[in-house]
Amino acid sequence: MTEPLDNVATLESLLARARAGGGEKRIEKQHEQGKLTARERIDLFLDPGSFMELDALRTHRCNDFGMGDKRVPGDGVVTGYGNVDGRQVFVFAQDFTVFGGSLSETYAEKICKVMDMAMRTGAPVVGLNDSGGARIQEGVASLAGYADIFLRNTLASGVVPQISLVLGPCAGGAVYSPAITDFIIMAKETSFMFVTGPDVIKAVTHEDVTKDDLGGAVAHNMKSGVAHFAADNEAAAIQTARELLSFLPANNAEDPPYVATDDDPNRRDEALDKIVPPTPEKPYEMRDIIRGVVDDGYFFEVHRDYAKNIVVGFARLGGRSVGVVGNNPMVLAGCLDIDASVKAARFVRFCDCFNVPIVTFVDVPGFLPGTKQEHGGIIRHGAKLLFAYAEATVPKITLITRKAYGGAYDVMASKHIRADINFAYPTAEIAVMGPDGAVNIIFRNELAEAEDPVAKKAELVAEYRKKFANPFKAAELGYIDEVIFPRDTRGKLIRALAMLKNKRQTNPPKKHGNIPL
Ligand code: HXC
Repeated sequence: MTEPLDNVATLESLLARARAGGGEKRIEKQHEQGKLTARERIDLFLDPGSFMELDALRTHRCNDFGMGDKRVPGDGVVTGYGNVDGRQVFVFAQDFTVFGGSLSETYAEKICKVMDMAMRTGAPVVGLNDSGGARIQEGVASLAGYADIFLRNTLASGVVPQISLVLGPCAGGAVYSPAITDFIIMAKETSFMFVTGPDVIKAVTHEDVTKDDLGGAVAHNMKSGVAHFAADNEAAAIQTARELLSFLPANNAEDPPYVATDDDPNRRDEALDKIVPPTPEKPYEMRDIIRGVVDDGYFFEVHRDYAKNIVVGFARLGGRSVGVVGNNPMVLAGCLDIDASVKAARFVRFCDCFNVPIVTFVDVPGFLPGTKQEHGGIIRHGAKLLFAYAEATVPKITLITRKAYGGAYDVMASKHIRADINFAYPTAEIAVMGPDGAVNIIFRNELAEAEDPVAKKAELVAEYRKKFANPFKAAELGYIDEVIFPRDTRGKLIRALAMLKNKRQTNPPKKHGNIPL
């Protein structure tokens, strides 16, 4: 007589093994390093009890290098779906305790499965990365697995939001999956990303560098701009991802969620009248204006530590999610340089993909001069921002607080590149260039011949300023729709946003544009 099959017991044992990952010792080591396990991270990320796991019993198919005897149900990545604030998301969490979280053919298939489902159902994909890279024992099958993911990242781009949390190693070609996603969130001290690590760098260039200095959260948030957020720890990184999702729609066919607020849409703020200083050279903090007008004064900044001469991030106006871009006169006088152009261009394109209206706060004296900028390709990089704004068809509202000079005026969501509503403060200065530079050029001869060139220059600058350093010429021409008092900004922006709620605009049919990359 044959024994009856005890499938229930088998299932229980398999599930227990899946949950145990790489075992107690490796989990302990993970904790000692200040890292959570894949399952602990998912528990923190999703609404309690909402996680539905897929493929928990899947194993790799490799028999080389003794791998036939080492199969762990789940194979080093936990995948499935669940809710964040009641809204569906797909998730994969790499489990460093199983073969160092390294990616096998099966593991890649598990990730691809949730990505495909996310695309079919129109929900965001969030990846929790912590991996030693390609599973060395599987060779090219692992590389193929990465490429399958890269392809899906690319096809999903602009269809569903994709967020990457980097919570451990992410090295070699593996970095390119997070790099294609929309946002990268890193945890300080425990995460790093690089294409080639310190040892290879030492061998090739003889440079000495630590992992953290090379590719830690601070390096990628402040220097390279690869990452958008540097959280103090994993829990904070996971919270950041949850919050980020609250501003975004589930897919490109939806609008972002509405979040009710008690903040009066017509709230006037007299303090705004005093933020822009009367002297044009004096810096001020653009975030003070942004916070002064958005719901509850809350601005969720993206890329905060990179290219600080421009600020980007999400906020709400009258309960509606908006993408905010603002030149910041506190840094480099708010000039556009290479990094600021690329940072803002990527953000504008993200907002346009996902139906997030863009509100632009302008105070820009121009592009940053210098050989470093010119030889670094400011022409090409500045063009990215121009292209991004010009092609964007989401509602675009612009407010010029002070300077809007030269090409930078055109670039920063001017009327001419299809901004819908353009406001200016009475302090706005809209002209080809600042008074000083303009006088030097157009009155060169007068200045050369003047008895007292300093007095003459002061007189001419005053004359120029009176004529051009104001918003009235642009308002006369209809390039500025309304010159507003700063205290009224919130109400004006919210009304404009409401008016644009049903905006529909399309670009000419094409395969895709050719943004100057
Ligand atoms: C298979 C791996 C692995 C890998 C780590 N492990 N990386 N197994 N393939 N890529 C295993 C280890 O053998 C070990 O197994 C366990 O994971 C934990 O690794 P440790 O080295 O003990 O951990 P730690 O000291 O924390 O170091 C982590 C690490 C290191 C820095 C990530 O493991 C490492 O350098 N790994 C190799 C990284 C690498 O070169 N990957 C390939 C890169 S090329 P046991 O059984 O002892 O617990 C690549 C290309 C991608 O990824 C291309 C995409 C296009």
